[in-house]
Order: sequence, then C-alpha cells, then structure tokens
Amino acid sequence: MTSAEVVYRARAYDTPGDPFADDAVAPGFRYDDDLGLAVSGDGVIVARGPFATVAAAHPDAVVLDLRAGILLPGLVDTHVHFPQVRVIGALGMPLLEWLERCALPEEQHLADPAYAATIAGEFVAGLIAAGTTTSLVFGSHFAPAVDALFAEAERYGLRVTSGLVVSDRVLPAPLLTTPERAHAEALDLATRWHGRGRLRYAVTPRFSLSASDPMLAACAAVMADIGDACFTSHVNENPAEVATVSGQFPDRAHYVDTYDHHGLLGPLSVLAHDVHPTDAELSVLAATGTAVAYCPTSNSALGSGMFPLRRHVTAGVRVALGSDVGAGTGFSIFKEGLQAYFLQHLLGGEGMRLTAAHLLHLSTAAGAAALGLADTVGDLSEGKQFDAILVRPPAGTSLDIGLRHADSPEGALGKVFALAGDADVAEVWVGGEQVASGGFVRPVSRR
Ligand code: GUN
Ligand code: ZN
Repeated sequence: MTSAEVVYRARAYDTPGDPFADDAVAPGFRYDDDLGLAVSGDGVIVARGPFATVAAAHPDAVVLDLRAGILLPGLVDTHVHFPQVRVIGALGMPLLEWLERCALPEEQHLADPAYAATIAGEFVAGLIAAGTTTSLVFGSHFAPAVDALFAEAERYGLRVTSGLVVSDRVLPAPLLTTPERAHAEALDLATRWHGRGRLRYAVTPRFSLSASDPMLAACAAVMADIGDACFTSHVNENPAEVATVSGQFPDRAHYVDTYDHHGLLGPLSVLAHDVHPTDAELSVLAATGTAVAYCPTSNSALGSGMFPLRRHVTAGVRVALGSDVGAGTGFSIFKEGLQAYFLQHLLGGEGMRLTAAHLLHLSTAAGAAALGLADTVGDLSEGKQFDAILVRPPAGTSLDIGLRHADSPEGALGKVFALAGDADVAEVWVGGEQVASGGFVRPVSRR
C-alpha cells in the first residue's frame, strides 16, 4: 500500500464510464456521498472507497472534510485563446469580421513582452477561477509571449498544453512569419517547455485560411521533430471561412484534408468548432482519432451555426468542450455545458438529449481523453492525479438553495450545470497541490 499524506472526505461525482456509449446505464455518472480519496505526496490518488475504510487504512494521513460542497474532477477546456482575455464579449459579428476588428488587433499587442506577461497573468487567473485545471491553449504569434504563458502556468502548477501560433498569409503583417522561422521558433519553445512538469507543446497553425502548404509542411516537420507533441487548429467554423479555404486549396478533398494531407491529424490532434462538416470529413476525423472541441457559446456569439453533435458521436468522432475565449463568452466550462444542453435540445430530433452525466463527461473525462491525458486526469479513480474542484456556493444563492433541496444526486448535478459560475468554485487542486482557495489563487510551492 502506498502511503497517503491526505485523505479527502467528500460528496463526489465523476464519469469514469462513457455516458455516450450505446450500452451506458443511467445515470451515467458515479456518485458517492461519503467518499474517501487517499492522495500521496506526489498528488496521486492511491486509494478510493468508503471514507471509513480509506481513513482506517491510512491512519497517519491528514483528513480534510469537504462535505460542505461537491467535489468534481478538475474541468478541462480543449480550446481557449491566451491573447484574447480582453476581447471577451464583443457581440454581433461573424467570424472573419470579428477576427479583423477585435481579435487580431488585440493579438498584435502581445508583441510587447511586458504586455504579454500581464495578459498571461490575467489568462491563468481566469482559468483557475473557473476551475479549469487542464487546458489546450491557443498561444500567441510571438514566441516571447508563449514563454510568458508557459512560465505563468508553471508558477500556478496548471496542466497546460500550448504553442506558437503560426500563419504566413491573409492576417495583418505583424502576425505573419515564414515556414523556416516558424519551425525554428517552435522547436526552441518545445525544447524548453514540452514535458516540463505539467506542460506540453502543441503545434498550432492558426487555420488553413492563414497557413499555406509550405507552412503546414513546416508544422508537420515540427511534429516529427518533437515526436509526441499535440496538434491543434480550427476547422469548418463559418461558411465564408469554409468557402475561402476551399478556393485556396483546390487540390484537397475538403477542409479537414488540408491538415490530413500533411499528416497532422492523429490521437493527439484537436480541431476546434467543426460546425459545418461533411460526412467524408467526419470519417477522416474518426479514422485518425482526431478530437473536436465543441465551443457552444462561441458558436452562438459569432452566429457560426449549430454544432452537429449527434453526427460526430454517430461517426465515432471524439468530442469535448472548449470555451473559445475570447469569441466564447467566458472561461466557465459549466456555462459551455449548459449552452450545449440548450442548443442540442433546440435542435430537436437532430440534436442530442444531454443529461447532467453527459455534461460532466464532456467537461472532464472527454477533455482529458481528447488531450491524450485519459490515464492521468479526467476522473477521480485510483491511480489518477488528484485534479479536482470543490463547488461550494455562497450561502443564500440559488445554487446553495438548490443543492440543499435537490431530490437526487442527478438533480443536484443538473443544478450545478444550470447555476454554477466562478463564484461557486471554492477550491482548486492540480496534482494534489491547492492552487486556489476561497476565490484566491496562489502560486504552488514546487516540491
Ligand atoms: N479561426 C481562426 N482564428 C480564430 C479565433 O481566434 N477564434 C475563432 N473562434 N476562430 C478562429
Ligand atoms: Zn478558436
């Protein structure tokens, strides 16, 4: 038996099974109202079971009683833009106009390393406040800014995968680079950050619209050089974007093929949006194991369209949630889950009737799987890292009242997705280290 430093006593939910599987049994989540989780000094859950049993087996461990709130696995955001914290909330524009008027002007400011460091602080604080412990972060076009992001994520112990965003056409000149320079800068960043603690590198062409074939080939070369990097980009978000890409790549079968042609798609690849896929594209995504980041608030805010979740699930494409800050309307993955529920409901027969279990799965385990971290995080099973959040609403709020009067565990979980926001995320742990408590974030002391 491995020794534990702490035994957490909690009311806890997680989704080690897949509620989307054909043979999934209701309610699709695991709930224990007096759970014991024994966590070792290096942050691993070494025992899980009834509190009395786990506590008796670890008599020297400190017991922390969390039953005043609800313990969930740390939330996972599979698509969120670091340089866009300050442009959240610009409504009323479709994608290409929003990029030109809002996102790209702000992103150019990150050429200034001091500005980039400030934004990195705001961004990491935003993730922690929302209870997001693991994320795939769209980085910046400027290498020093990406350094600032990794450094800040490391300071707080967050699990972050990110990289240099590269483009060589269409965007404003300060955001452009060459395939040669992109290759060199990406490798330099990856050498310093990939696999360091909880950080990993993601090769990141912005989208095919702004990346020529030589640039995508340079991305493939970086993937080959690193070996186990992630890959991320955008696909099929908006009809005007899709039409432009189709004109730019007359020799490719479709938008997904612009990436697949260069061997960029695989089990560590995540493409954001995919609101307008063809069946042929879904087949390629499924065959390559590529995951899709479903970004409900962004898709609504930019009027991009209704995400065809059922078609993805039926085709066997892995899906998880992304906030898509700053087109998305905030960092909260709870809000993305609720919006997914609304939008799928509104789609009627074409949509999926999502339960609270589906929302928790999309917000945690599905995200971990999309990022190749299913063995490390995503649920609270023995052997996983203790990445967790405590939802504990302030007294007298709707969520507090709702949870006290919920008539079942499923009812309570539904209330969490309907009502929880940042103010309800009372504690945040990553790898057993507490990175936020009572709304205050704090750097972790490295062991
Ligand atoms: N496509 C290319 N860049 C972006 C971006 O910054 N946000 C969104 N939503 N889509 C994009
Ligand atoms: Zn995006």
